[in-house]
Formats: sequence, C-alpha cells, structure tokens
Amino acid sequence: MSFGNGGFPHREGRTLMLLPQLPEDAQGPSAKSSGEVFYNPAMAGSRTRSVLLFRHAMEEGMLGDGTVYALDGLTASGLRARRWLNELPCELSSRISATIVDLEKEALDWARSSHKEFPPSDGVGNLQTFQGDLRAAVLSSGRHWIDIDPYGSPAPFIDSAMQSMARSGVMEVSATDTAALTGSSKTALVRRYGARVRTDCLAHDSGMRVMLSNISRIAARHDRAIEPLLSVWDSHHLRVSFRVVKSVSSANILEERIGWRVFAPSKEEFAASIDSGLQVVSGGDVLPMHCMLPLNFPVDRKDPRVSGPLWIGPTGDREAMSSMSEERALESCGPIFIPDDPVGWNQKSFEIERRRVAKSVRHLAEESQVIDSCNLVVVDDLAAWLGTGAPPSPRKIVELLRQNGHLAAISSYGKPSFRTAAPWEAVVEAAMSIHPPM
Ligand SMILES: C[S@@+](CC[C@H](N)C(=O)[O-])C[C@H]1O[C@@H](n2cnc3c(N)ncnc32)[C@H](O)[C@@H]1O
Repeated sequence: MSFGNGGFPHREGRTLMLLPQLPEDAQGPSAKSSGEVFYNPAMAGSRTRSVLLFRHAMEEGMLGDGTVYALDGLTASGLRARRWLNELPCELSSRISATIVDLEKEALDWARSSHKEFPPSDGVGNLQTFQGDLRAAVLSSGRHWIDIDPYGSPAPFIDSAMQSMARSGVMEVSATDTAALTGSSKTALVRRYGARVRTDCLAHDSGMRVMLSNISRIAARHDRAIEPLLSVWDSHHLRVSFRVVKSVSSANILEERIGWRVFAPSKEEFAASIDSGLQVVSGGDVLPMHCMLPLNFPVDRKDPRVSGPLWIGPTGDREAMSSMSEERALESCGPIFIPDDPVGWNQKSFEIERRRVAKSVRHLAEESQVIDSCNLVVVDDLAAWLGTGAPPSPRKIVELLRQNGHLAAISSYGKPSFRTAAPWEAVVEAAMSIHPPM
C-alpha cells in the first residue's frame, strides 16, 4: 500500500511510520542513499530499549515531575522520538516535549508525514522539529533526555550536549566507530578517545568502558557526574546510556571509576585489584584472565596487556536493567494484531515482531542481578585459557556457580558469556568440572 506522499507504511514495535522504500531494501548501517531518509531495521532493538529506559527513568523520578524536554539529536526518520511518544503509557508520554533534530530537510519531512499520518495512540504527541546541526540545537539548556546516534563517532557532539543537560537527566550515546573503540584502529582510538584497547574477546566491553570514561571526563568539566544505566553491544554498534547529575564532587567520582583492564595479570596486579575492591577476595593462587586496576596503579601504557583508561565501575544499573524484562518489553512495545492492518501484516508477522521486541532485551533483567561485578567471562576465552578444549555452555556454568552459592547470570554481551561475583577459583572449578582439561 502506498500513501499520499508516495510513502510505504512500516511498523517497528507498536509504532507506524512512512518510508520512501520498504525496509527490505534498507539493510545495514550504510542503508542511506542521498535524498532519502535513513532507516536501519538493525537498530530496532536499540529503539525498543530506549522506550523502556525512558519509562523507567520517568517512573523513578530521574527526569523531574514536570515537562520532560527530550531531544532525539540525530533523528533521521524521527522514529525513536515517535516511539517514546506512542509506546510510553499515556500519563508519561503526555509530559514529554520532544524535539527531533537532523541536518536534512527531507528526513524531517518524512518524520512529520509519519507523525501526521500515524499520530500517537493517545492523540497527544508533542513533537517539534529542528533542522540544522545538533550542536546548534543544544545551545538552549534544560534538556532532560538527549539521544546521540551518529554515523561513526559521537565524539564531536558530547561536550555541547552535556552542557545543555538539566540538573538531572539521561543521555544515550551510540557509536559505530567500533574498529576504533575495540582497538583495531589504534590511532583513531588514541585520537578520539585517548585510550588503548587490547583486541580480545572483551574488546567490545572495553570499548563501551572507554566511551563511559571519556564521557565522564567531559561531564566532570561541566560539574556533572554520570551513572551508567545500560551498556549494550548490538551488532555493528556500541551504546551507553547513563544518568547525568549536577555534582560538585564529580572529580572524586572520576578518580574512583576510571582505571585499567589488564589481561593475564601478575600476582601483584591481582592483589592490587582485590585491595581496591575491584575483584572478589580470593586465595590468589589461581590468577584470572583479566582484572581491573585503579588509575593510580603504575601500569606501562605501552604494555599490550593493558586497556584503558576506561570505566572500571558497573556499566549498568540494577534497577534500570531489571525493568527490562521480556514481559515488560512486550507490554510496552509489542504490537497487537489488528485486522485490515495498514501495513498489510497478518497474524504471523505480528508474532515475528513481538518475538523481535522480546529478543531486544534478552538476558538484561537476569544480568541486572550481577551487573555490579566486572567479572564478565567469554566462554571461548575461558576454554582457551584453561586448555579445556570445548567451551562450557554459559547456562551450565551459571547453574553450577549458583548451586555453589555464588551470584551468576548469562550476560547480554554479544558473545556467549556469563557474569559472576564468584571468586576466580570458583569459576575455574566450575569450568573444569564441566570439561576437564585435555
Ligand atoms: C545514524 S542516523 C540516525 C538514526 C536514528 N537515530 C534512528 O534511530 O533511526 C544519523 C542522522 O544524523 C544526521 N546528521 C548527521 N550529522 C548531523 C549533525 N551535525 N546535526 C544533526 N544531524 C546530523 C544524518 O542526516 C542522519 O539522518
């Protein structure tokens, strides 16, 4: 079916939109062609999580109790902001004043057409547009929510956006310059983020931590501190979401939360990590694959085992992540079958979209229980480290660790992995009992 402006209707989550072409033709991060609006279906999960985090932040009072000024900074199709307005419960969405920003007039024209053709279900939907550079749009302050979702690096946009935040708000930042952030493009990483990352199975986690450390330094320059709510590696992009609060003690927070990750630490490094509260107390005879160290620990920055400076605190918040259950995702964002659907979907298509919505939060609520621990273990790495051949199944090792009285959960990280607060020797013991060394 084609509409008045020649657009085709499409649905993501519970929200309808118009696109110049159907999304089957728009795959991957380079889906944009000149003069057309960018829409990447691979980012649907990121938009679903954004709706859920917005809901959590409002319900927890992070965004005050009046009008919530939200900026969808690099909006393209306008879909992210339109999903906030359409998929949050009416008593919350009616408090949002959303502005969508893009350099391109055509993108905003499509967003406006979508909003007019498919207004939010409660009929309110306070949506403004700003055509121009995001750095100009943030000149006015008092924003409670800013989303930065660029092509490539977010680095050019953070400083000005930080200055425009209200006393308490939330910022979400995506990066698709993953080659830099994961250490493959070393010079770009040093140039943009002033860090180094060891290219191993934890490189994407290190990349998100580099983003957080970098952003927290910018926040501190403006007397603000950040508190991570959610960090996700999803296909081609990394995304960190965090609370921003006015804080005069931001410098102290920085000291505590920034440091190093060291691969194959020495006994002395492992002991220092335990002393700093960054590792669970352990006998120290069995050394772990990685550990975190505080910034004041004398590391050789050229040592290939060392990644950082990076964020050594939790990369997510227990309550925020536990609010992202599959049930809650479906309750907010799962589309409900309607006959004579304008997109032409049948019951099966609705079911597929509901499954996609549920998948976008998989393992987040489970992982929330142990997000305070930086012991993220990729099972392939663990098998190679212990010489056990086959990697243990994350579910099996998590169950064993739990049976032995430790907190453990399957991780949402993009490689089969688990997170645990168990001492390292308990991890080794559990892995060895599943697959003894060859
Ligand atoms: C990756 S797309 C955004 C995708 C979108 N957030 C979503 O969820 O579908 C980046 C968008 O930023 C716009 N853009 C690039 N540089 C910009 C700038 N300096 N200020 C405002 N918009 C910009 C581009 O036109 C493009 O539409």
